[in-house]
Amino acid sequence: MKIVSFANYKGGVGKTTSVVNTARSLSQKEMKVLVIDLDPQGNSTLTLSRKNPFEHEKTVGDLLSDKDLSIKQCVVSTPAEVDLVPTNLNSYTLISTLPPNSAKRIYGLKNKLRDLEKDYDYILIDCPPQIEGSLITNAIAASDYYVLPIEGESVYALQGVDHLIQAIDLVRDDTGSGIRLLGALVTMMDARTKAGKTVMKAIDKYFGDMVFKTIIRRNTTINKANLSNRCVCDLDSKSSGCLDYQAFSKEMIDRIEDRG
Ligand SMILES: Nc1ncnc2c1ncn2[C@@H]1O[C@H](COP(=O)(O)OP(=O)(O)O)[C@@H](O)[C@H]1O
Ligand SMILES: [Mg+2]
Repeated sequence: MKIVSFANYKGGVGKTTSVVNTARSLSQKEMKVLVIDLDPQGNSTLTLSRKNPFEHEKTVGDLLSDKDLSIKQCVVSTPAEVDLVPTNLNSYTLISTLPPNSAKRIYGLKNKLRDLEKDYDYILIDCPPQIEGSLITNAIAASDYYVLPIEGESVYALQGVDHLIQAIDLVRDDTGSGIRLLGALVTMMDARTKAGKTVMKAIDKYFGDMVFKTIIRRNTTINKANLSNRCVCDLDSKSSGCLDYQAFSKEMIDRIEDRG
């Protein structure tokens, strides 16, 4: 069982899209996958469950704030054949009731995940767009790896990446987590544009072989899928979005197998 967080302190870089569609690609390969939605906006909750995030009875907020609640009581199955621990905006309030500096603010998720043992091949965590805070700390403390999605066409794509990596390293050292960067995933790329080419060069220079070879191209079917709460492969299995996420999920597994 490997736990992989998708993290970037920026919003709109493709974290949720990558979590949801990577999870779906893995489930299409007959793997058991759990998605934990740690972003209280609940976007992956909505896409995967096709339900309003507020309709879910037990959420990440309950999980982290109620010591007697086990993760198995929070897991729901979804039409995407991926299990999910949902969330909604109430999670902020629930988590804010935890005493400051309490172990639960740091190790709550990690401790609850112990109940799962070997139920899943992969657990993917959709992180909130933050550089610090209880939710991101819980994700870092619990994860084996993180994937850093980067928006391929934004000239600001690399801005703050240093800071993010340092912040994750600090939390890793403080919490004794074994989290490692698995790689940078370039999303929403249009390599035909000048901006796309320039940004790609800068990303290659910065990350070297840590950049995943698979690049997620800009694809309107991905947007349509998100708008209709579907995974892109369930909407159009021939779309570039579906093919790219299938290729990425394979590359992700291979990288994890190589690293151990
Ligand atoms: N490859 C892509 N092509 C086109 N649109 C995309 C692609 N990836 C993501 N999007 C769109 O970009 C927006 C932000 O993506 P999202 O995954 O929600 O980012 P984040 O979780 O980092 O905030 C969404 O509207 C999504 O539909
Ligand atoms: Mg998101």
